[in-house]
Amino acid sequence: MQKFSLRLLSRALFVSVLASPFAAVAADKTAASFDAEHKVFRLDGGHVSYVFGVNERGELQSVYWGGRLQAGDRFPMTHSVKGHTTFEATTSETPQEYGGWGAGLQFEPALKITFPDGNRDLVLHYQSHKLTDNGVDITLRDIQRDVRVVLHYSIDANSGIVARSATITNGTTEPFTIEQAAAATFALPRSTDYMLHYLTGRWSSEWQMNTRKIDQGETVLESRRGSTSHHNNPYFAIGRDASVSEIAGDVWFGEMGWSGSWRMTIEQDSLHQVRITGGYNPFDFAYKLAPGQSLESPIFYVGYTSGGYGEASRILHRFQLAKILPGNGHPKVRPVLYNSWEATTFNVTEQGQIALAEKAASIGVERFVMDDGWFGQRKNDHAGLGDWYVNKEKFPNGLKPLIDRVHGLGMQFGIWVEPEMVNPDSDLYRAHPDWVLHFKGRPRTEGRNQLTLNVAMPEVRDYIFKFMDDLLTKNDIQFIKWDYNRPFSEPGWEQMPPDEQKKVYVAFVDNLYSIFAELRKKHPNVEFESCSSGGGRVDLGILRYTDQVWTSDNTDAYDRVIMQEGFTQAYTPGIMMAWTTDVPNGAENRSVSLAYRFLVAMEGSLGVGDNLNKWKPEDFELAKKMIAAYKDVRNTVQHGSLYRLASVRDNAPYSATESVSIDRKQAVLFAYLHSSTLRYPYPRLFMQGLDPKAMYTIRPIYGKADKATPVTASGDYWMHVGIDVQMKGDFQASAFVFETK
Ligand code: DGJ
Repeated sequence: MQKFSLRLLSRALFVSVLASPFAAVAADKTAASFDAEHKVFRLDGGHVSYVFGVNERGELQSVYWGGRLQAGDRFPMTHSVKGHTTFEATTSETPQEYGGWGAGLQFEPALKITFPDGNRDLVLHYQSHKLTDNGVDITLRDIQRDVRVVLHYSIDANSGIVARSATITNGTTEPFTIEQAAAATFALPRSTDYMLHYLTGRWSSEWQMNTRKIDQGETVLESRRGSTSHHNNPYFAIGRDASVSEIAGDVWFGEMGWSGSWRMTIEQDSLHQVRITGGYNPFDFAYKLAPGQSLESPIFYVGYTSGGYGEASRILHRFQLAKILPGNGHPKVRPVLYNSWEATTFNVTEQGQIALAEKAASIGVERFVMDDGWFGQRKNDHAGLGDWYVNKEKFPNGLKPLIDRVHGLGMQFGIWVEPEMVNPDSDLYRAHPDWVLHFKGRPRTEGRNQLTLNVAMPEVRDYIFKFMDDLLTKNDIQFIKWDYNRPFSEPGWEQMPPDEQKKVYVAFVDNLYSIFAELRKKHPNVEFESCSSGGGRVDLGILRYTDQVWTSDNTDAYDRVIMQEGFTQAYTPGIMMAWTTDVPNGAENRSVSLAYRFLVAMEGSLGVGDNLNKWKPEDFELAKKMIAAYKDVRNTVQHGSLYRLASVRDNAPYSATESVSIDRKQAVLFAYLHSSTLRYPYPRLFMQGLDPKAMYTIRPIYGKADKATPVTASGDYWMHVGIDVQMKGDFQASAFVFETK
């Protein structure tokens, strides 16, 4: 079972990363302990304790997940919940950590198996455990058959984030089929006042924030598309009641580390117990496991805070920087990037790209990226995908002259690829029509005139690795924008026996991860971006291999203000690529000033995507200033603590964010006015997260504060007295830096 070793490796990394600069929550000791007398397991990390036990029936039962308890606190032996009616078996009412579908379980199971004799009853009981450095591995076993599930638990010492996954092993003598496999089930304290926050969207409209009350029944968050999807991101946050705010209140939250079809169910049972179960999406899922084989689930990461939705986001951001992203807890700051896509679309040429590169270098860009169009017969999106040779008409001398010029200008060179796809009009498809996902003899549905290569096939996996390895070996490339522009359709795998074909959902993603892992190992200085027609593949699985993500194909600056607030609920601004682009912007036919476009993009990792050939001298002057200002604050923006001072939700006329550096010596305030009305002044903004006693000097990046604003004042002053920003009109923006000596 070689293919699972990469994810096991990631778990090992999660355990071993030390002394990250993002250890800002509570640098306390992690503890995983077992109270043998009461059969209770306890994990402590950050401000969190997580407790579960073995009940009198042998089930692994959820006990507590919330604020950190005192070291001396002990729990009694766990007892199952006795069936309250004949319609609810004890198995159903007892909140289990990982319930098999059997023994009358009516709520969402974590694992469902069909055995060759038709038996589908699975009753998992505790068998043994092994304490690890920062967690515990628990082995469950079916009461009769040798089906073993090892539940892996670990807790992060700083953030209190609990990582859970399951390894399911067939110890019997016959194959069986797994029909549903979760990473974990989590239980919340019994209550009826929970609010669920989640992110939805579609192409060019990702990261929309939604809230709904958790009532009896099940809410499903999912992707059935074979990849993470724009439509639902594998993230949730649950507030204790409607009064939980940005700055206070109990919030439980989580994210899935999986870039294929995933599902999270949030279920309130008939006793008002709330359970969250997540892992592989059981839709169209079947994983046949031969004797001796194992299936490993994705990792489900969850956290808790009493500090409201803002602190929940900050914990996730720090955790991603410290424990998920490449860089072993020290991810590099994102360089300022130029990307050619919106300026040239497919019309890339050596001379055209060099002209843009020269202009980009003049304003301080550090990485020049050539987007789609440089390969095969790629004149538009109808042809060429799959043929990864340099187009001779556009680049008669290969890529070298462009790459050399970009390097000569002092910039890194990056290039776009879409390795998992093929246009039917390509040499690759003509040679290997059987390499795409399809059902034999059935029509193949195209999306953007392309089909999806079946990356689960070893020959496809090797083809992708080889051309990517060649591209990086033969050219001096520092950055790859890795795109993926359509979801699965007709996910057949005709080379496999019919009862093995549905493994494609797991094997495709495992192979993708293994390609990334191997490329990163062989080309350690190359950075990668996860792009999927914008933000269609952002999750804690792909983020183990990619340094940044493309947030959305919608680059309208005001729409980005909305999307960036949604994105940063779940993911760090350090990976959120944000470009300025030409106006009027195609997404909304809206024109806003270049200053506004820059200030919006500076909330994330700054890029420029305008057609620089159309810029006037004053645009270059402004861009130079903005990029220089960004370089001064980007460490704080990308790796600091984000505070949402005023939300853009509900069509609010204004919004504001603040980023504070980890050492609290610098803070950056971004304030946006969407439209002023009835002559109301801009509301006062109160800073957060500053050192109360330190003296901070304010300076504008752009815009003005009220005349009465002091130049220097204490953190307490800025947090309590606040700052009045002077703005009137439509789509205005201001930014200020606060610094201690
Ligand atoms: C979709 C991406 O999101 C865009 O940024 C661009 O790279 C195009 N694909 C290129 O085809």
